[in-house]
Amino acid sequence: MYYNACMKVTKSEYEALLETIRRHDEKYYEQAKPEITDYEYDQLLKELEAIEQDHPEWVVADSPTRTLGDAPTAGFKQVKHKHPMLSLSNTYSEEEVKGFIDRIHKLTGNEKSPLSCELKMDGVAVGITYINGRLKSGVTRGNGKVGDDITANVRKIASLPKELKGSDIPERLELRGEIFIPKKTFLALNTEREENGEEGWANPRNAAAGSLKLLDSEESGRRGLDIVLYNVAEETSGKLKKQSDTREFLKQFDLPVFAKEHVAVCHTEQEVMEFAHQIEKVRDDFPFEIDGIVIKLDQLSEHKFIGSTGKCPRWATAYKFAPEQAVTVVKEITTQVGRTGVITPVAELEPVLLAGSTIARATLHNQDEVKRKDIRAQDTVIIEKGGDVIPKVVRVDLSKRPDGSVAWEMDTHCPICGTPVERVPGQVAVRCPNRDTCGGQHLRRINFFVAKNAMDIDTLGEKIVAKLVEKGIIANFADIYAIRREDLEGLEGFKDKSINNLLDNIEKSKDVPLARLVFALGIPFVGTQTAELLAQEFGTLEALMEAPFEQFVTIEGVGPKVAESLVEFFATPRNQEEIKTLLERGVRPQKAEKVAASDHPFAGKTFVLTGTLEELTRSEATHLIKERGGKVSGSVSKKTDYVLAGEAAGAKYDKAQKLGVKILSEEEFKKAL
Ligand code: IVH
Repeated sequence: MYYNACMKVTKSEYEALLETIRRHDEKYYEQAKPEITDYEYDQLLKELEAIEQDHPEWVVADSPTRTLGDAPTAGFKQVKHKHPMLSLSNTYSEEEVKGFIDRIHKLTGNEKSPLSCELKMDGVAVGITYINGRLKSGVTRGNGKVGDDITANVRKIASLPKELKGSDIPERLELRGEIFIPKKTFLALNTEREENGEEGWANPRNAAAGSLKLLDSEESGRRGLDIVLYNVAEETSGKLKKQSDTREFLKQFDLPVFAKEHVAVCHTEQEVMEFAHQIEKVRDDFPFEIDGIVIKLDQLSEHKFIGSTGKCPRWATAYKFAPEQAVTVVKEITTQVGRTGVITPVAELEPVLLAGSTIARATLHNQDEVKRKDIRAQDTVIIEKGGDVIPKVVRVDLSKRPDGSVAWEMDTHCPICGTPVERVPGQVAVRCPNRDTCGGQHLRRINFFVAKNAMDIDTLGEKIVAKLVEKGIIANFADIYAIRREDLEGLEGFKDKSINNLLDNIEKSKDVPLARLVFALGIPFVGTQTAELLAQEFGTLEALMEAPFEQFVTIEGVGPKVAESLVEFFATPRNQEEIKTLLERGVRPQKAEKVAASDHPFAGKTFVLTGTLEELTRSEATHLIKERGGKVSGSVSKKTDYVLAGEAAGAKYDKAQKLGVKILSEEEFKKAL
């Protein structure tokens, strides 16, 4: 129910709404764990705004309609913004977009003032300042006047230059942008967290916010944060005149900006909506999350002219995409055993079409989430996909709850092997402690071990692994290297050819690069990047296994948590035994040569990235190039040495072809590494 002017609202109802919004603010800003969706939050805020319009006498000075919710974070220095960091007004209605455009045209006195439209990133706002071309600071928005100094964490973002390139660099350059975690990185991060018994993040924005608030910048740096810059708060050269030139202006200094097709100059409401609809159509294909478009007056002189209210500029607004929702029924809540034994609840849904795909399952992350939302079998639920990577259960429609329904309880025993579960110390999750004989864990670990970015035994698909585990042919990694032809003959679906293929594949995988083997072992907190660092540092598995804690923490990019996990893993007799058997059965990890940056063929070369890479994120690719002494630039020119092209590569690819610049596929790139 939404308030409208005809309804009578009492002062205590207003105050109750205030309280509710404050509680959600705290969840969102301070804990990065919101309980309601952005859409629901925006509706509450609009309700509050409407009441305040009718009852100005009730309005409190610190009403959420007038302030920004982010309180200082303990442990971070507080810094004052030279230019206030404002928020944006927003709307979900086309009608209101029209109202906004009419209003600003009236304010500028020019009904033809052009508008610059661009993506609305769903991340964390940040102010970035460069002095004489050097990265000086990164500050969160905070309350708009004072924010958290997150410079150390911002410095770890691979795509953000510490030093600007190019000529005519303004003495002082203060920028606004958004820090985000790409969808793919988020999924990997969450899987890792859930498997380590930690709570998964609800969405990439929360993951980004949580990662930025880490006091340990090494750990923050491992989260794969990325950034895009979209506004200039100050630039002393005086050259920038139009919002729509911001992209090119910043790009000349090698700063990360939107792609060309994500920005458009529009003149009418109709053109604005066309851009919005076209973006909404393809939003799922973006490697990062957006939640709408931002419409800004194009002339920067007009920004100054019409100014801002206390909280938001008058010259911009956001048109947000309403999330797509669907109603369905939870058939049952099952549980899933992960690689490390952590048990996660999953809602098995009556299949329903949502934003173009059929949804039959939704992860419920952990038991607290199920309890909080009180989701039960047979419940009618509202599920939502707002460009989010994972569809989520928003809430239960209690009016449809059948009689006699009972609250869901987490398993007391492992659903696969029946062992009593244990609580993961310090976490909400529970875990099956039976690492040695739980078939569920074997299955997950082996699937992880043979995956493409690990041992890459692609003919050993999930179904086959399940069958081999079920038959007792494999229970651990080393067993894979003892599979004989006889074990496979007679198994359903296996013919001579597929048996040969599989055995061939297994044989080939023995010459795996060390980094991939280290990753495949599934050591908690060791992802592909860290595995790569370790392989570079130690060169051999033996050296890595013997290294003490102190040596691990001297490696840039390895924090104490990772170091501890490594020491524990290699000190565990079972793991030592397994590695020994792997080596005995012929696995020969290929030495990682320590490359001196200047010796590598990438040294001194300029790369341009385009399209979506399959395995690497852009920031990972950038990191790998820079580590080898190369540079990454935003646009293709005659000076470009290589274009690294992923899927759906566009104009940059065509230009590279035209200029005869060498184009590398992801595969070729990885080989060249
Ligand atoms: S411009 C002075 N442009 O949306 C106002 N903001 O919900 C400058 N946001 O606080 C903001 N994408 O964090 C601007 N292309 C974009 C944006 C954007 C995302 C964020 C920003 C803002 C929030 C409001």
